[in-house]
Amino acid sequence: MGETMEGKSMRQHLLQLLMEQRGSFVSGQEISDELGCSRTAIWKHISELRKEGYVIDAVQRKGYQLMYAPNRVTEPEIKRHLQSTVLAKHIRYEESVKSTQEIAQRLSYEHCPEGTLVIADEQTGGRGRLGRSWQSPKGSGIWMSLILRPDIPLQKSPQLTLLAAVSVAKAIYKTTGMQAEIKWPNDILLNGKKAVGILTELQAESDRIHAVIIGIGINVNVAETEFDPSLRDIATSLKIEGNEDVNRAKLVACIMEEMETLYHEYLQNGFGLIKLLWEGYAESIGKRIRVRTLHEQKEGIAKGITEEGVLLLEDDLGEIHHIYSADIEI
Ligand code: BTN
Repeated sequence: MGETMEGKSMRQHLLQLLMEQRGSFVSGQEISDELGCSRTAIWKHISELRKEGYVIDAVQRKGYQLMYAPNRVTEPEIKRHLQSTVLAKHIRYEESVKSTQEIAQRLSYEHCPEGTLVIADEQTGGRGRLGRSWQSPKGSGIWMSLILRPDIPLQKSPQLTLLAAVSVAKAIYKTTGMQAEIKWPNDILLNGKKAVGILTELQAESDRIHAVIIGIGINVNVAETEFDPSLRDIATSLKIEGNEDVNRAKLVACIMEEMETLYHEYLQNGFGLIKLLWEGYAESIGKRIRVRTLHEQKEGIAKGITEEGVLLLEDDLGEIHHIYSADIEI
């Protein structure tokens, strides 16, 4: 039989306590006061945590000390690194879900606070742009959806996708030293291959935005063999490019901090700075590109993006086209 929610959340709470006092012992008494449970129950949770890969020292009359934490994206792991105040203040972690977008959509309708983050260790039906699927293997990526409630007109919502892309590129650089490029509108590339995809979905009524759900998928420690053979030439991961494991929780925390700073700037001063930053990371501006929409294909020079985040394409006759949603090839 599956474990109750209380059991799981008590274990998360215990883990948080051990993490907050990392480097020292936490007494059994303190844990049982904090969690309101018996010494036997504590021991049971410690055994479960050990099964999950945590190394916890237990010494009589001293208590418990966390010695090693595995590379996980649970709430305590993320909060250990987190300094943002609004984004990811509320985290909903799941071991396995169909899609974090679905859960975020539901939580948003239930009026969860702005900044709520839904994150999963695995997605069984991850969604990509343009109706595609998104491979989300267990334990090796970041599969998350963030709920924002900006007071902006509907047509400005694509700006938030670009803001998210810049935040992820900055966080990748801060965490790994790797320079990512952004391919309009929202693919993040490492050495020309896609490592990150962003899917923005809206909940709106007439012109009023109820919520923007920003879904971010990052191939962090995904091995080449985990990619579908059809993707191996075009997809990559941070680990493949940098040759080392990346701490997923630390990267999530860093993205939330970068996003919080830029989101604040955006709400206060508009899209100007984000546009400049985005253009600094863009791989295609000034280059000849091919644009594929659902119905047609166009070629020309990518001239830049508008204030709304729309791509400007100049065709061979000098005519400028506004591209709202498409795939581009260089
Ligand atoms: C793309 O097609 O490039 C966008 C991919 C977005 C994938 C992420 S993973 C977390 C969130 N949940 C989903 O089902 N999709 C997004």
